[in-house]
Amino acid sequence: MRVLLLGGGGREHAIGWKISQSPLLTELISCPGNPGLAELGRIETDTDPNDPAAVVSFATRESVDLVIIGPEAPLAAGVADALRETGIDVFGPGADGARLEASKSFANEVMDAAGVPTAGSETFTDLDATVDYLNSYAGPYVVKADGLAAGKGVLVTSSRRAAIGWAEDCLGGRFGEAGASVVIEEFMEGDELSVFFLCADGVAVPFEPARDYKRLLEGDDGPNTGGMGSYSPVPDLPQNVVEWTTAEVAIPTLAELSRRGIDYTGFLYVGLMLTDTGPRVVEFNCRLGDPETQALMPRLASDLLGTIATGLQEGFADTQLEWTDTATVNVVLAANGYPSAPRKGDRIEGLAQPDGSLVFHAGTRIDATGQLVTSGGRVVNIVGMGATIQQARQRTYDTVRNVTFDGCQYRTDIAKREESQ
Ligand code: AMP
Ligand code: GLY
Repeated sequence: MRVLLLGGGGREHAIGWKISQSPLLTELISCPGNPGLAELGRIETDTDPNDPAAVVSFATRESVDLVIIGPEAPLAAGVADALRETGIDVFGPGADGARLEASKSFANEVMDAAGVPTAGSETFTDLDATVDYLNSYAGPYVVKADGLAAGKGVLVTSSRRAAIGWAEDCLGGRFGEAGASVVIEEFMEGDELSVFFLCADGVAVPFEPARDYKRLLEGDDGPNTGGMGSYSPVPDLPQNVVEWTTAEVAIPTLAELSRRGIDYTGFLYVGLMLTDTGPRVVEFNCRLGDPETQALMPRLASDLLGTIATGLQEGFADTQLEWTDTATVNVVLAANGYPSAPRKGDRIEGLAQPDGSLVFHAGTRIDATGQLVTSGGRVVNIVGMGATIQQARQRTYDTVRNVTFDGCQYRTDIAKREESQ
């Protein structure tokens, strides 16, 4: 099977690493890929992964059997629709289904209609009305750019002044079109959890849960980022939380989409807040999580490629994913200046992969002199594996300490709370 994998971050390196182990794979082509994916197969850099016509033309020329779409941008741009129209198998929703992620107000509307528990919310396009609303209660405030902002369009704050400033920035163009409307949500308190699904024909097959760290700094301080680390399994979860998320979130959401004429095939990401009164949805994404995928792929015993390929032909009604007992901890090394202004071009040294660890590339590239350098906000992911979270965590940080580049930022508290496990 010839597979085209769209994307070039840590999530895609982890997906590529996993499907490379499938007996079904004959060739992996990644577009645009990264130096890690380049070790697993061909890299295509002349095709824009966000351009539906260009992807169709490349996939046709290369006789690709299946396209797996990693990030949200190609999905929101309609790349999956264009491939399907051409008769090329693709795992990823069309642009209509991708609105679950690309529009927070759409996601809230679908959840309301489907009876999925989430935060109360109001959507505004007018600054005066937004400010009046923020002035009407005491906070904390949750202010979100409605559209795609790579995890950086959200401010959670107790300061009304900061909340108003963020709304001004959104509506004033800081996030471009993504901030043309702003969503103000009720604040939810609790631990977060990410649960992913393989979806087709209204059926949702759950992954094991993972936990992600969204804030830049230790102790969950600093700005929101795409994610600074993750681990799995997550101990001490509410009983049956995965079954609950399948039955009360994923299935009703797929059914509501179907009522709206949207046939959702692909990954679904459910971000949960485990509140005192039960789990509630924080967000949907139309793809797998980054950096959670990097912690999950090494734990997955099933053949991901085989499962997806079979599911596309026969549906997922009989599918169950098998997981190992291995624990994983993933720490993201981010560039100087991330998330606001990541610096590129710093030399990366010491990127070895000792036993029990994996390295997944994200924002790296090989420069003209053949040296590996930083080229994006999140640079590399280091995943340690072990029999316990504690052992995995130890391996991760032992490997992390060998890697150096100027201005490297990482959190030292990933999975720390689970050390006693
Ligand atoms: P989002 O991009 O919508 O997932 O938001 C990014 C992060 O902001 C989430 O992972 C949460 O940590 C936080 N957040 C978002 N919405 C809420 C909410 N309604 N209440 C509390 N925290 C939130
Ligand atoms: N880890 C958060 C995300 O992928 O959106």
